[in-house]
Amino acid sequence: MTRILGFWRSVVGKKVVMGATGLIMIGFVVVHMLGNLQAFLGSEKLNAYGALLHGPLHEVTLLLRGVLLAAVVLHIVAAVQLTLLDRAARPVGYARKVPQAATPASRTLRLGGVLLLAFIVFHLLHFTTGQVHPEFIPGDVYHNLVSGLSRPLVALFYIVSMLALGLHLYHGAWASLRSLGAAQPAPSPLHRPVARVLAVVVWLGFTIVPVAVLLGWLA
Ligand code: HEM
Repeated sequence: MTRILGFWRSVVGKKVVMGATGLIMIGFVVVHMLGNLQAFLGSEKLNAYGALLHGPLHEVTLLLRGVLLAAVVLHIVAAVQLTLLDRAARPVGYARKVPQAATPASRTLRLGGVLLLAFIVFHLLHFTTGQVHPEFIPGDVYHNLVSGLSRPLVALFYIVSMLALGLHLYHGAWASLRSLGAAQPAPSPLHRPVARVLAVVVWLGFTIVPVAVLLGWLA
């Protein structure tokens, strides 16, 4: 226990926790994106998928919710603590041995993280509990999805949030692998093909849903 606490208190420990929890969330996001795309197969398919998660697989869903919640909390706590440590230790900055490119994604990582947190809170109240969804019908995932995203302002919020998710993943996927020792520092953002492909696929895979509702492809 003392060793685990000591590891958590170290900068390396916090980075490893951020990397590992980041990878857990990436796994969830990819599976969730594939689940959402079933909307294009029709309301029966999407609702059957939802019924499976909340019926026969309910215990698995509860377990995954617990893991995901723990991952989100640890990820945020580690991020805040690393930011504070970084500010305290480096008031004027230092020269790096290996030049590393600053990308729009890395600059907006923290801001994007805050937007994503706000998105997740709204999203759960919107599609899971229905508190902020005026036409919410428990169990009718397809109806909730289409009627919820038919409101242009709500759809726009989803579209902007998915842009933040793409940028966050672009930087975060690569940083996760680095923190876990599976990738080397890259002098150019173009040296991060896995993160780039992942970010674009996830961004497109999620964004296509609100766009399709706005264009009337899903109704
Ligand atoms: C366009 C983007 C998205 C759409 C259309 C969407 C759609 C949905 C829908 C319809 C549900 C309810 C599923 C059900 O009750 O069976 C749901 C649940 C959820 N979504 Fe999303 N989602 C999107 C993006 C995201 C993102 C980016 C995240 C996380 C980073 C996320 C996290 C969750 C979580 C945690 C749940 C609750 C799952 C549970 O019941 O345990 N979603 N989403």
